[in-house]
Amino acid sequence: MSDTLTILGLESSCDDTAAAIVRHTPGKPPEILSSVVAGQTELHAAFGGVVPEIAARAHTEKLDVCVEEALGEAGLGLAALDAIAVTAGPGLIGGVLAGVMLAKGLAAGTGLPLIGVNHLAGHALTPRLTDGAAYPYLMLLVSGGHCQFLLVEGEEDFTRLGGTIDDAPGEAFDKTAKLLGLPQPGGPSVEAEAKTGNPARFKLPRPLLDRPGCDMSFSGLKTALLRERDKLVQRDGGLHLQDRADLCASFQAAVSEVLAEKSRRALEDYIGRCPAHPVFAVAGGVSANMTIRAALETVAAQSGAQFLAPPLRLCTDNAAMIAWAGIERFRAGRRDDMTLAARPRWPLDRTAPAMLGSGKKGAKA
Ligand code: KG4
Ligand code: ZN
Repeated sequence: MSDTLTILGLESSCDDTAAAIVRHTPGKPPEILSSVVAGQTELHAAFGGVVPEIAARAHTEKLDVCVEEALGEAGLGLAALDAIAVTAGPGLIGGVLAGVMLAKGLAAGTGLPLIGVNHLAGHALTPRLTDGAAYPYLMLLVSGGHCQFLLVEGEEDFTRLGGTIDDAPGEAFDKTAKLLGLPQPGGPSVEAEAKTGNPARFKLPRPLLDRPGCDMSFSGLKTALLRERDKLVQRDGGLHLQDRADLCASFQAAVSEVLAEKSRRALEDYIGRCPAHPVFAVAGGVSANMTIRAALETVAAQSGAQFLAPPLRLCTDNAAMIAWAGIERFRAGRRDDMTLAARPRWPLDRTAPAMLGSGKKGAKA
């Protein structure tokens, strides 16, 4: 029997409905045979954030269509699969349930094994899918819903070295865009504005830099930005375009500096524990930001670590990472059954104390 595995992954924990098929033969690089992502940005646009009920309905409507597309793109039928992997949490519970129910239906109908995957593990294992990264490595997961440093030592072996105690950086970018009248998602629009701005004009705070360790906080930053905006509006009766660009550049510089300094500390901690061949990997939508990416790359180089940044489509939410995590779990002998539960919270590191909060999807990691 061949050791090749072909696994279908499903993802529906936030506002992206996704299905993908990944194939892997030991000793060879994994192949993404298809990766379909149906976003919901326009459905939530009028509400200024993800509405859980709308998200859940859209997942229910789109998931089977995405699965058919993923099979079609890969040129495979269900019979060619070895297992069904699905995000079983953490995330918005209605969406997670939609995915888990479909996966259970497919598993029951085909007799294929079912594998529940932690969404955060999907992100954290992505450098193994894209770059063949060997364990252990340090991962900075930085998106709209998550922000944490993880020491990754196995498909189920994660140690959280630090993380945000309130908002995730992507959420701060989104709120900043909202405060300045820029379109959502805020990250790309704030980054575009920042290009013509002066990052040194506004002295925004660098929260928790004065404290040891690599925990972070981003909620005070948007409040500080709001105060600067209001001062300008009061003085001039509105915001000049240059003011807006300077606010964006100053905000981006603050986030970038905090992430870089905390990454330096996390790298020090990680290299102290695992000194051979240090690797620093990033994932999550915010790692698409060129200023932030460059700052993290510099810190990695200064610390003597190799820097890995997966392509953007695999940094943001997708199902290829879920299929890949499913492959890793399958090889480790892990299977689930019809009792698989959908979990709104599911910390990767079960030994670390709970965080106060993290990201727009609520406290969960
Ligand atoms: O990983 P992702 O697609 O979804 C989750 O949150 O899980 O990340 C989306 C987040 C949004 O908050 C978005 O504003 C942010 O990533 N983002 C960026 C950039 N592109 C996306 N933030 C800063 N700069 C960017 N270029
Ligand atoms: Zn995610």
